[in-house]
Order: sequence, then structure tokens, then C-alpha cells
Amino acid sequence: MEWLIGCWVFIGILVGWYWIKEKKKIETKHGLPKGNLGWPFIGETLEFIASGYTSRPVSFMEKRRSLYGKVFRTNILGTPIIVSTDPEVNKVILQNHGSTFIPAYPKSITELFGKNSILQINGTLQKRVHALIGGFLRSPQLKARITKEIEHSVKFTLSTWKDMHEIYVQDETKKITFEVLVEALMSIGPGEDMKFLKREFEEFLKGLICIPIKFPGTRLYKSLKAKERMLKVVRRIVEERKTALRNTNEKPPIIDFVDVLLRDIEESSEMQRLPSDFITGNIIELMVPGEETMPTAMTLAVKFLSDCPVALEKLMEENMELKKQKTDSSEGYAWTDYMSMQFTQNVISETLRLANIINAVWRKALKDVEIKGYSIPQGWCVLASFSSVHMNENNYENSYRFDPWRWEKMGAAVNNNCFTPFGGGQRLCPGLELSRLELSIFLHHLVTSYRWVAQQDEIVYFPTVKMKRKLPIRVTPIST
Ligand code: HEM
Repeated sequence: MEWLIGCWVFIGILVGWYWIKEKKKIETKHGLPKGNLGWPFIGETLEFIASGYTSRPVSFMEKRRSLYGKVFRTNILGTPIIVSTDPEVNKVILQNHGSTFIPAYPKSITELFGKNSILQINGTLQKRVHALIGGFLRSPQLKARITKEIEHSVKFTLSTWKDMHEIYVQDETKKITFEVLVEALMSIGPGEDMKFLKREFEEFLKGLICIPIKFPGTRLYKSLKAKERMLKVVRRIVEERKTALRNTNEKPPIIDFVDVLLRDIEESSEMQRLPSDFITGNIIELMVPGEETMPTAMTLAVKFLSDCPVALEKLMEENMELKKQKTDSSEGYAWTDYMSMQFTQNVISETLRLANIINAVWRKALKDVEIKGYSIPQGWCVLASFSSVHMNENNYENSYRFDPWRWEKMGAAVNNNCFTPFGGGQRLCPGLELSRLELSIFLHHLVTSYRWVAQQDEIVYFPTVKMKRKLPIRVTPIST
């Protein structure tokens, strides 16, 4: 027994000595941002995670910013990392001139998405896939078609809420967003394939943030198996579409993302052609916002509005006005109608600012870089923190207050470096406009046809932004 204790003490001393040596090496590097690497192995992870369970998730960053400056070094989630809370430094990182920075996501994410994921590819291939996705998501044809589909899905889902005693907004909004997105990607409507994909996709997503160990029984293994099962279905659908395309002499209009990819294959040279597995993998990856980011944005909009009756009242007024116009003229809604409601767009901006659904992006430096006098050595990870910028009092007065009116005063600031819920630079989210459109349609039909009472609930910020109790509400229809 004593020898065992002796062994552990010896190992402890060895690890401690190695850690101090490594720390010294890092600390003496010229120009490296100030900071503290914390304890051996765990670094400052515990404090970082703990802040995600408080109502001030950026307290971890705020404390270090006041001690070391806007850019500092730390060690979180097993990685020594340079954190930037400076909007100008973030901008340079996002713009990534000369391909200096590549994405560096946790191992479970890279394992699940695979090497062909848009989050892992770089250079010209990333630009090409980004342009294909962006071109499709921003096209007016898609927006016109998807407006009807979102309207239909929102109205149908909301009509089921009124019959339920209590509904959990966080779960219910997924029913709207997932199906709409899968339909836009592959034109499959409700039915067996949709149900199967939804079920398997939930299983797949559970592994996004987990211990990256891969053998039967582990979380990562189960999620990878779910992905394999989904790939089979998506592969079959793509093959059916390929055959249908081969059997026709006409060039049918592009109706979904499968069409976009098949057209690209047809028009590319042998050398440039995207492999089949690349296509199916990317289609699955594009389903993530339908199950994660979009429902979270809708849920938090409901939460913030429930807590701010004056903003809800103003939102309702603006949306009632549009509804009345449409009823009087018996015209359908165009996507531009939804997007032109200014206060509604301000509510959405304020929701995205406060919610910080993607609170930061992770990158790795491929070479030594200097930004605003801060040195980022080759091989170091960098975290460009969006939430620190969004919650900084210098950028937003009373930054913790839900205040859609602030956007009336700030106006043009929507595009500046201090507002980056969708990232920026060459990886700026190609789903930006679609997200705003979907949120606008959801809010319009919710506030013009229903009232709700929300129960007390809290936002949790780690590992991803969620409501602790999934935001239970009770809904009643209004008579107009
Ligand atoms: C509220 C909703 C959303 C938020 C907050 C959001 C946020 C973001 C952010 C911050 C990035 C940049 C990641 C990085 O730089 O590493 C990103 C990238 C991306 N987003 Fe979104 N997103 C949303 C909705 C969507 C939707 C609806 C789609 C499309 C279906 C989408 C597709 C993508 C894709 C494909 C990328 C990768 C772009 C690239 O690396 O070139 N997102 N998103």
C-alpha cells in the first residue's frame, strides 16, 4: 500500500515539475498575451464551465479582461488557448487573410462531422461549398417557396399548441424548423423517411459534445451509428434523384439543395467533381440548424418577450398592422413583407445579441501572427468570443437588458464588428437571411393569433444555450 502511495506522490511531483516547465516556456514567449494557464490538465476549465451555469456566462471572460486586457491566454477544455474579447481582433481572425486560421472544434464534433465537413475543409474547397450553400439559401426562388412552407408549418404547429395543457417551447419549435429545413434540402414531406431522419438525427446530435471515445456502447459510437443509418437514406434519395435526372432530356428548375449539388456535379470537370459521400455528409450537416440553432433562437425570443411586455405589445401592434393589410387586400404574404417589419427585425437582433447561441468560434493558427500587437504563435488555438463583445457595457448600454429599441438608435451598427451572431468573414453564416425570415414568420403568427403565459425558467449557457425547463408555456387563441 505504502509503495502505491509513494508511486502516486512521485507521479504527482513529475507532472507538477513538467507543468511548471511548460508554463515557464510559454510565459517567456515574447509578446504572448498575458494570462494564466491554471492547474495541470484541467487549466481553468472548472471556472469556465461554472460561469456557463450562472446568469452572467461571460463573467469568466470579464474577470480576465479586467486583469490582463482584451486579449488573454488561458487553458480550457484541455487546450491552452488565446481568447479575444476585442471586436477588431475578432474581425481579423474571422477574415482570415492568407488562410492563417483554420477551424479547431472539439474532437467529438470533428469525428461526427467527418473530414469532408464544411467546418473542417479549408481554402478553395471551403469557398466553393460555401458559395453553393449560400447561393441556394439566399436565392429569391428558395425564399418565396420556403416562406409558404414555413407559414404552413408554423400555423399547423401553433394550432396544436392551443389544445395542449402545457407546451415546452424548446421541443415544439424543433417540429417547425427541422421539417422545413429537410424539405428545403431534399424535398421530402412528412412521412416515414422524415420520421426516421428526425429520430436518428436526435441520436446523432447527442454526441456532438461528449467524451471522444469510440467503441460499442459509448455516446460517440451510438451517434456515429445513427449517422451511418441516416447516410443510407440520404444516399438512396440522392441516387433516385440522379436517375430521374438522367431519364429526362429537360433541365428542370432547381427546387432543393440536392438539385444544386447534382447540377454542380453535372457542370464540373472530372477533376473538380465533389464525391458522392461529400454530398450526403454535407446534407446531413446542414440539418443541424433545424434541430439546434433555429429552435433555440425561437425559444429565447419567446422567453425575452415574455419577460418584456412592452416589447411584446409593440411587436404585436406592428404585426397586427401587416395582418390587417393582408386581410383587407386578401393577398398572401411575400417573404419581403415579413422582413420589412422594422421593430420585428429589431426584436430578432436583440434576441440574437442576448442569446449568444454561437458564443464564439474556435480557430487554430497555421503560422505566427501578430494582431494589434498581440502575438499568436503557430499551432495555438484562438477563441474569438462573440458573447464578450455582445455583453460589453462599452458596446451596448445596459447590456443585460432586452431592449429592441436600442437598434433604432444604433441603426447601421447592425453590420459592425460588435454584432456577430452569425460570425463574419469568409465563413459568415450562409443561413443568416433564412434564419431571420423563419424567426419573423414564427413571431408574426404567434403574436397575431395567440397569447401565452410562460412559467418561470432560466437560461443555461453550457455546453450549449438551452432553457433549464425547456420553457413551459400555456397558449390561448385570440379572437380578431
Ligand atoms: C439563429 C440561427 C443561426 C445562427 C446563430 C448561426 C450562426 C453561425 C455562425 C456563428 C457561423 C460561423 C461559424 C464559424 O465561423 O466557424 C455559422 C456558419 C454556418 N451556418 Fe449558421 N447559424 C444559424 C442558422 C443557420 C441556418 C438556418 C443554416 C442553413 C441551413 C446555417 C448554415 C451554416 C453553415 C453551412 C455554416 C458554415 C459556413 C462555412 O464554414 O463556410 N446556419 N452559423
